[in-house]
Amino acid sequence: MGTDLHALLRSLRVWAPEATTLPPFDPATAPAEPLPLFTEWFAEAVAAGQPEPHTMSLATSDEAGHPDVRTVMLHGADTTGWTFATHVTSRKGHHLAARPYAALGFYWPTLGRQVRVRGPVTAAPAQEGQADLHARSTGALAAALTGHQSEVLGSLEELAEASETAWTEAQSRPDAPVPTWTLYRLAPQEVEFFQGDARRRHVRLTYRRTGEQGWTSTLLWP
Ligand SMILES: Cc1cc2nc3c(=O)[nH]c(=O)nc-3n(C[C@H](O)[C@H](O)[C@H](O)COP(=O)(O)O)c2cc1C
Repeated sequence: MGTDLHALLRSLRVWAPEATTLPPFDPATAPAEPLPLFTEWFAEAVAAGQPEPHTMSLATSDEAGHPDVRTVMLHGADTTGWTFATHVTSRKGHHLAARPYAALGFYWPTLGRQVRVRGPVTAAPAQEGQADLHARSTGALAAALTGHQSEVLGSLEELAEASETAWTEAQSRPDAPVPTWTLYRLAPQEVEFFQGDARRRHVRLTYRRTGEQGWTSTLLWP
């Protein structure tokens, strides 16, 4: 049976009233820096029951400048930046080595909110990355130990075998090192907050870094 993609797309709406609350957002009351607002919106997404608010799109560029994007987990956000972790040998790891700059995108439909973050990316010291990994779940360690991320896989049996070995290792050695696993830190230069509005008068507030410490913020047309 065929599926009429276009009919389905036309039938769908964003922010259906039964699934979404669109809170008012008054930029005049926003803090002078983006981090406290991100923290507040993140907590509100959790409180509103937004599924997996800690997942985000991570956009990188390859050597030729061509963009790529995938989902990763947010590991933290503080005055030093937004952190995520992956293998330095993965495709995104190669991208970040060639062009150490990235963008993050969060979408929290439960509240009709989007946050975008852009800036240069650096690898955290190996010790910090390993400590971050070992503070996570056994599954996270097993996944990291499985390795070979972004390489061509011959068969699912090959993956099952490597994964079994990795799970055994992760369960018996919760501090097993994974040398390629790397914590990356994006230092924000620009952070944009988007609050959806039912009348399409969406509020966009963008913060831009000025010098070492300061921030300036402006509204943008939606
Ligand atoms: C919900 C979700 C969370 C993910 N979290 C991570 C993560 O934190 N780190 C990671 O390396 N890959 C994560 N992945 C897998 C990536 O999306 C991607 O498939 C993988 O990192 C390889 O990307 P690359 O080939 O561009 O390097 C996640 C995928 C999903 C769907």
